[in-house]
Parts: sequence; C-alpha cells; structure tokens
Amino acid sequence: MSTSTSILDALNWRYAVKVFDATRHVPDEDLQTILESGRLAPSSLGTEPWKLLVIENPAIRAELRKVGYDQTKITDADKLVVIAARTDVRERITDETVARTAKVHGVDASMLEPYRQMIAGAVAGRDDQQLDAWVRAQSYIALGIMMETSALLGIDACPMEGFDPAGVNAALGLTEKNLGVVSMLAIGYRGEDPSATRPKVRREFDEVVEFVK
Ligand SMILES: Cc1cc2nc3c(=O)[nH]c(=O)nc-3n(C[C@H](O)[C@H](O)[C@H](O)COP(=O)(O)O)c2cc1C
Repeated sequence: MSTSTSILDALNWRYAVKVFDATRHVPDEDLQTILESGRLAPSSLGTEPWKLLVIENPAIRAELRKVGYDQTKITDADKLVVIAARTDVRERITDETVARTAKVHGVDASMLEPYRQMIAGAVAGRDDQQLDAWVRAQSYIALGIMMETSALLGIDACPMEGFDPAGVNAALGLTEKNLGVVSMLAIGYRGEDPSATRPKVRREFDEVVEFVK
C-alpha cells in the first residue's frame, strides 16, 4: 500500500466518535505522539498562542461533562485534551515570541527587530475581538494535527465545541491563567457506536477543490 493510500485510509476510517469504549486505554507513548504533534503545529508568526490541557482528574471530567451538554465522550474517552487560547496575547506574545526565537537561533533579541515589528503590527492592527478570533483560529491547527495524528496511529478521537465556554473556563480555572477554552479532543477507542458504520458525508472533490489556471 502506498503512503498516500494509507493516509487516506486512515482519514476515511476516522470519524467523530460518539460512543467510546471506556475500558480501553491509549498507550502513553501514543498520547505523547499526539500531544507532540499538537505542539509542533505551525502558527501565524510563530506565536503559538495556545495551551493543551490533558484532563486526568475524573471529578473535573465529570464537571466538564455537566457543562458539555452531557456528552458521554467527555468522561468515557480514555483521554481528554482541552485546547485553550491565550487571552493575554496583546500584552505578552510579541516579547515572548521574539525572546524564544532569539534563544533558539542563538542571537540577541535586538537582531530580530523586524520580526518584533511584524508581530507587534499584527497584534496592534486588530481590535480585541479580531485578536481573539485570530488567536483562536491558530488553535484549530493544533486540533487538526492532533486529530490526524490520532487517525494515523489507529486511535479514535472526537473534536468538540459543544460546551458552555464559561462553564469550562470556570471548571478549569482558565480565566485566572489568561486562557479561554476553544475546543476539546476526546481520544480513545470507539465502543458500540452506531455512528461508526454511517457513510462519511463530504462534498465532492470538484465542489471543494478548484484549480485556478
Ligand atoms: C471544531 C469541531 C467541533 C465539533 N464539535 C462536536 C461536538 O461537540 N460533539 C460532537 O459529537 N461532534 C462534534 N464535532 C464533529 C463533527 O460534527 C464532525 O466532525 C463532522 O460532522 C464530520 O463528520 P466526521 O468527523 O465523523 O467525518 C465537531 C467537529 C469539529 C471539527
């Protein structure tokens, strides 16, 4: 089987699991790979304005289910990752990103002045709502990559936005940490799930993809 066939097989195999098998466990190494793939996600201007929270405490998972429209996946999937966006981007992200980059590249931060100005301009050019939308959009890249990694590993997942954000933020104390929930990813193995055999609904290739010559 070619690599592209196996990638597409994995992406056709994956679906947003509704019912997880609560008895099956994801190997630590695979969870690590999924999280690492999220960490490696690219972001606009390299700002990485997100945090991935792995919720291990069963009592907190139960709280999250209450504010998550009672979605059973929140408690029954073996792992639950909450993807949160930074809310302190305006104050901190420019200096942080420049300092981080300077350290990795082994240069003085002053050498990166044009880069600093690009980030500062991208931040200053957006009002609070636009900035929040921009930051949150970045976090979906990490979500998408983690979903693809799971599928390639043969591990099921379900992305979720079906929750009350204020309730999730309160349950996890996110506001105090300058974070706001964007999405969640339940990770585990499908159980007796009627959705598993439903044909995938997708627009036709030619409707989605247009080659502009
Ligand atoms: C950002 C995002 C949020 C979603 N939120 C939920 C959710 O809260 N609960 C749920 O059961 N499915 C959720 N889904 C799953 C979608 O309904 C599903 O991915 C879509 O219908 C395509 O089906 P498939 O993923 O099974 O192929 C979400 C998907 C995405 C990408």
